[in-house]
Amino acid sequence: MTKKLRFGIIGCGVIGRLHAEAITSLPDAQLVAVADIIPELAQKLADTFHVTPYSDIQEMLAREQLDVVDVCTPSGQHGEHACQAMRGGAHVIVEKPMEISRAAIEEMLRVQQETGVKLTVISQHRFDPDIGQVRAFGRLVLGNALVPWWRSQAYYDSGAWRGTWELDGGGVLMNQSIHSIDVLQWLMGPVKSVFAYTDTLVHRMETEDVAVAILRFANGALGTIAATTGAYPGTGTRIEMYGDKGSVVIEDDRLSYLHLARDDHEEVSPYGAGREQRASSAPAGPSAAQNPAALALRSHVLQIKDMIRAIRKNGTPLVDGYAAKHPVEIILGIYESARTHREVTLS
Ligand SMILES: NC(=O)c1ccc[n+]([C@@H]2O[C@H](COP(=O)([O-])OP(=O)(O)OC[C@H]3O[C@@H](n4cnc5c(N)ncnc54)[C@H](O)[C@@H]3O)[C@@H](O)[C@H]2O)c1
Repeated sequence: MTKKLRFGIIGCGVIGRLHAEAITSLPDAQLVAVADIIPELAQKLADTFHVTPYSDIQEMLAREQLDVVDVCTPSGQHGEHACQAMRGGAHVIVEKPMEISRAAIEEMLRVQQETGVKLTVISQHRFDPDIGQVRAFGRLVLGNALVPWWRSQAYYDSGAWRGTWELDGGGVLMNQSIHSIDVLQWLMGPVKSVFAYTDTLVHRMETEDVAVAILRFANGALGTIAATTGAYPGTGTRIEMYGDKGSVVIEDDRLSYLHLARDDHEEVSPYGAGREQRASSAPAGPSAAQNPAALALRSHVLQIKDMIRAIRKNGTPLVDGYAAKHPVEIILGIYESARTHREVTLS
């Protein structure tokens, strides 16, 4: 029988716990250690999963001969911790965003190339079963992402890093909306340029709690991103993709409308088809709009499985470092446009 892969987690906060649950649900994986600079947090998680706690990452890496390390620390530390783990010889799963600056991302890619380990960045919604069904169709004309969420002041006050440029790297875009931005650009294709406004209207924080961006995709289609954490009490995320051969609407990670021309047996009237729905029957799960700690495990489990497949078969994970760079580039372009009041072309 193949040996189970030995996993360790760096960062035992909200998402670290979810990684522990996801790893321990997989027959091919074994969680052996967790690390946090706050020793009580490492101890608490270690007690739940019967593994060894560490308060020093280097010590965990030196002692545990880990095959895979999950980096679940604040966003602006992902690069430092991922590079430490890669240099220690481990494959690495990094939470989103990959990092918050281009320089840190380039360094991660360089170290990954140099060490030859596998690197994946969590973008769990790419693994949602409904989203996996969507394929490009016809001439795409419009792609929108709407993220009207609520986060209280207490949420931002719950960690000194939240809502800061230095460690969160941004606000509602870099933290909450990166999932929808990644899925939008994955389905619609690369973004060529952006023009944006951002503001901080509701919370005491450095970074933005509301943002609107106009997008031009490389294929010529137009699009928008509208996002806030100031929309009490928080409603569902919506991703829309429209073209001359179909329309797709994804609400809260589930397909709520799908109509493709290739499935039509009769011509649609010159005025369109109205609101007839072809939707998935997937049951509703917990929504991250309401509570990030209530995130469904399923898609994280599928992404970790994809990484295990890449390690075992010497393949490439679906969301490697190069793929994970794109949504961060879009967000950095939006920040630049909001700052300079200019359209920003992405390279
Ligand atoms: N995929 C998702 O849906 C999702 C959801 C929530 C958070 N996240 C991401 O996960 C990351 C963590 O978010 P969170 O909400 O769990 O934050 P958190 O503050 O709850 O947890 C972060 C933990 O990292 C620890 N830490 C900080 N520096 C460390 C160091 N040098 N060594 C060891 N541990 C250290 C902190 O003590 C803290 O316990 C962020 O990048 C966030 O964007 C992703």
